[in-house]
Amino acid sequence: MATTGQRILVVGGGGREHALAWTLARSPRVAEVLVAPGNAGTAAEPRCRNVDVRAADLDGLVALAVAESVDLVVVGPEDPLVEGLVDRLAESDVRAFGPSAAAARLEGSKAHCKEFLLRHGIPTGAAATFTDVDAALAHLRSLSAVPVVKASGLAAGKGVIVAETADEAATAIREILVDRRFGDAGAEVLLEERLFGPEVSILAFCDGTDFHVMPAAQDHKRLGEGDVGPNTGGMGAFHPSPIADEALLERVGKEVIAPTLQALRDEGRPYRGVLYAGMMLTTEGPKVIEFNCRFGDPETQVVLPLLETDLVDVVDACIDGTLAATEIRWRDQAAVTVVMASAGYPVQSSEPVAISGLEAAASGGCTVFHAGTTLIDGVPHTAGGRVLAVTALADRLGDAADAAHAGVARIEFDGAQHRTDIARATAEVRP
Ligand code: AMP
Ligand code: GLY
Repeated sequence: MATTGQRILVVGGGGREHALAWTLARSPRVAEVLVAPGNAGTAAEPRCRNVDVRAADLDGLVALAVAESVDLVVVGPEDPLVEGLVDRLAESDVRAFGPSAAAARLEGSKAHCKEFLLRHGIPTGAAATFTDVDAALAHLRSLSAVPVVKASGLAAGKGVIVAETADEAATAIREILVDRRFGDAGAEVLLEERLFGPEVSILAFCDGTDFHVMPAAQDHKRLGEGDVGPNTGGMGAFHPSPIADEALLERVGKEVIAPTLQALRDEGRPYRGVLYAGMMLTTEGPKVIEFNCRFGDPETQVVLPLLETDLVDVVDACIDGTLAATEIRWRDQAAVTVVMASAGYPVQSSEPVAISGLEAAASGGCTVFHAGTTLIDGVPHTAGGRVLAVTALADRLGDAADAAHAGVARIEFDGAQHRTDIARATAEVRP
């Protein structure tokens, strides 16, 4: 194992990957962080260097890791994990953090995940899977409640339709199976029992056998204030969440994470990496909505700044199977991140526009993680749906929320969208 002065490759170019690169670059064990492809934020980060290789270019990434003799690869997004990047890197003797393709299939196929959960008695909603549109529509007619309709494959977070009426559900089924709105990701469709209750993401570092649950960050998925409007990748997140207390983390660890790791080990595909359990807290107890095989975005922009232990030590423990013997410490603070998105998000993309006020937000005490940004003539411009995640830490949640929102207020770009209520509704009900 390499000791000091590691060179690490972070794969991806979103806010999550900026947070990963930012955290790794602060480690005394790290000499340089390469980010492929990165963004304007990682380009400006000390000890970081962007490399123009896309996260979808598995051949290019393996070649890059080998050519640059990197000591470790940390994979951000789900697609390369599901496509087998970590397996490919292992074949080339490159150490990598993230699950194998076989383990990442839990995110790659919702049909597979559901079958896995039901087979192992892990709490989740009932569901049926179809490839034939008539069979799916017949099943829909037989149900007494309107189900959630899901494209089985990876659809960049857009393949889930929470229909209010049976007609809406039927339209969604046709769009997925017949019109192939999500391409091959919609070759299979799930009709899933709709669950009700507060939603919370529980993320754990996993080493194949043992796990360590991270501080819970609650995500705001809807575009609009008061949690209305279309679903997005996430408009902001905060910690601590009043609904995800220690008792809940322990319960989800015991009822969901532990049996999942045990089952995957028994099936010969041990899970190493971050396991993200999207949970619905129903009146019958916490149930799994989905598994993701990676860090959350924007949850990572809240959680990693709270990590006191060197992230390289944690990643090493996950890869080497020594998590049980590794102490992982977290700052006892509140953290809030507010996402700034470009005009038209999440429906339409927009032309790049210049971003100003980044330094002012940083000098006000915020850490501004970039997502869809690029440098044009040396000036940061928007280059994607979610553009920035503005993070602030404080002893109290209300103060962290105020600081993050104040940071957002200092940043400007044409058509910017953000929510002013991230963490605020919650701050009001907390002492
Ligand atoms: P997913 O992409 O699986 O995270 O789903 C996106 C969102 O759809 C989730 O965050 C939930 O808000 C909602 N959702 C997914 N599955 C269900 C379900 N079975 N019942 C209710 N809401 C759901
Ligand atoms: N914030 C939701 C996700 O990362 O999937």
